[in-house]
Amino acid sequence: MPVTLPLVTFDPDLGLAVLRTAHSVYALRVAADGSPRHVYWGAPLDTEALAALPEAASPAASSFEADAAADELAPQTGARFGPAGLQVRFADGTRGAQWHFAGHTVDGGELRLRLEDRRRPLRAELCYRVRADSDVVERWTELSHAGAAEDGAADRRAPITVNRLDSASWTAPALPDYRLSHLVGGWNSEFQLQRDRLPVAELVLTSRRGLTGHHAAPWLALDDGTADEERGEVWSTALAWSGSWRVTVHRDPVGRTTWTGGFGHEGIGWTLRPGETLRTPVYGGLYTRHGFGGASRAWHAHVRRHVLPEPGRDRPVLYNSWEATGFDVDEAGQIRLAHLAARVGAELFVLDDGWFGTRRDDRSGLGDWTPRPEAFPRGLRPLADEVHRLGMEFGLWVEPEMVNPDSELYRAHPDWTVHSAHLDATELRNQLVLNFARPEVEAWAYETLDRLVRENAVDWLKWDANRPFTETCGGGGHDPDRVWIDHTRAVHRVMDRLRADHPGLRIEACAGGGGRVDLGILARTDQAWTSDNTDAVDRLDIQHGFSQLFPAQTMAAWVTDSPNPATGRSTPLRFRFHVAMAGALGLGGDLTRWSEDELAEAAELVARYKEIRPLVQRGVQHRVAPSGPVTAVHYAAPDDSEHVLLVRRPATRFGHHPAPVRLPALDPGARYVDLDLKREYSGAVLVGRGIDPRLPAGDYASSLIRLRRVDS
Ligand code: GLA
Repeated sequence: MPVTLPLVTFDPDLGLAVLRTAHSVYALRVAADGSPRHVYWGAPLDTEALAALPEAASPAASSFEADAAADELAPQTGARFGPAGLQVRFADGTRGAQWHFAGHTVDGGELRLRLEDRRRPLRAELCYRVRADSDVVERWTELSHAGAAEDGAADRRAPITVNRLDSASWTAPALPDYRLSHLVGGWNSEFQLQRDRLPVAELVLTSRRGLTGHHAAPWLALDDGTADEERGEVWSTALAWSGSWRVTVHRDPVGRTTWTGGFGHEGIGWTLRPGETLRTPVYGGLYTRHGFGGASRAWHAHVRRHVLPEPGRDRPVLYNSWEATGFDVDEAGQIRLAHLAARVGAELFVLDDGWFGTRRDDRSGLGDWTPRPEAFPRGLRPLADEVHRLGMEFGLWVEPEMVNPDSELYRAHPDWTVHSAHLDATELRNQLVLNFARPEVEAWAYETLDRLVRENAVDWLKWDANRPFTETCGGGGHDPDRVWIDHTRAVHRVMDRLRADHPGLRIEACAGGGGRVDLGILARTDQAWTSDNTDAVDRLDIQHGFSQLFPAQTMAAWVTDSPNPATGRSTPLRFRFHVAMAGALGLGGDLTRWSEDELAEAAELVARYKEIRPLVQRGVQHRVAPSGPVTAVHYAAPDDSEHVLLVRRPATRFGHHPAPVRLPALDPGARYVDLDLKREYSGAVLVGRGIDPRLPAGDYASSLIRLRRVDS
């Protein structure tokens, strides 16, 4: 139920700010020293009760330990010894800000607290936003140099070094214990959910790569160690940033846990000149008492309502030629694949790497975005036209931020790369990163992509980025470390402009699989390529981790060949489909080698996916059997009218019959009919006892069960 306005109140006498969402409340107080301190984040409480709450003082106050409550953004002064979310250094060597509270503004669901340094020309605004239809509290910080270049006083015009500017610091309540859930992985193994007891220590989650990263994600969840999928209090946060980032979780020895996070990694800094403002990305936080599943569902709803550009648009069933043809692409071969793709029901045909410049392998051509003459002598248009004639949309792979040194672009503009004149450049996959922090590079990228889309009637771009940054130095301007911010901002901007100038164009985010998936990139893309690993068994874990934060419609999942090219594992076509159908389904195999029977079965399963697509892509996801020998995901229509259940068992054990799968989201008072068996069940039975998963015998068993609510 949407909460009623006002969502935000600020009581100037008490200095108390209260932000309300439908199922949570967040409260803070401006302390006597002018610093906003955390008061409460959790289940709804009335304002009177919040006003009476003390700030969470340290139980170990002494001359070695301040009694101050946790900061909303710790400023590196006073008796604060934890990780500081704001670290500044003034020209005379002084470090840290000391605040004077200068006022607040409330505008609908947005609160801004204005802070001014007591002596220096430094200002900060701590910003908060809540919305009537989301449980996420969005936070960010704006830091300004309030001096003027022409100021007579040297200390008012001197630049200020920003060594750290976090979006927000968060505080968990006192709990008997703390457990941290986060995502780790690597190329081909993204989004592995890690759930461990939080040590009494400072624990850093970070990316130093200029990309969000395969190895870590700027999402975490905290609980007391007892939450499960459906029950228990969970506090989780997600940073909307697609470059380097850092989150430091601090569990102190006296039982308090806080975390602070934002863009950039350690050791880099930015310069703030008079009149300049540095604005951080949004860091969202979400509280639920409905366990990890409840947290995911609330994030999914938020991402759909407030992050994705076109959440209501069906993600098409795509065919992508990468695993079929690799770099070996040409017009005739792609047209052959396009015909087969259309036959099995694909709605979008994506031409992957290898179509441009001198690109016959990964050693050359990257950066030269004109069709390779031997492969496409008539350009790409004839292929695009044929794809359209077959009733599909046309998609194209690009990697605009990268360049092979063996390319026309690099020969013309060697200085366009992220590089340092005094260091040897590291090549990865024989390529370097183009420096989008330089305005001329950003302009080139926009013009190149705009031309490609326009000239070739492109409906979809797969935007890839296949290496991290190394040996960075500078953009076009004066501040060398700004590349870590400005490159990412420019990537976001180019995507935004392309979408604005080409209504209908869709973008798929990719970075060697899921190396750059976050709420920042998803604000301008439709889905993300989850992983280069398309092995259906490995995908179960990858998809489980991905679903912690991101909704299924953003999770690109292909059915490819068997044995799988990455793992050599052979699995039945039906199993591969039942794994990939849990997201935005695609096909990526060499269809020319599929038998008539396989093509017919694929066509049937694609048709079945289109029937359940509204549920998978716009329904509510319940990970009803998240782990164990049998895993199952349930997608429910928001009005409970229709349901689909995907059940997978990679390996049979001891010949045991699988246990029934409980469906706690169903209405125990309703009745449901199984659309395939035509059998009716009571909701109470499906909730309390569960449904027979109907798995065939043997390994790689799977089933798809559709239920419809029967009106009594
Ligand atoms: C990356 C992507 C793949 C494919 C290749 C092409 O690895 O993740 O899907 O596009 O690049 O080189």
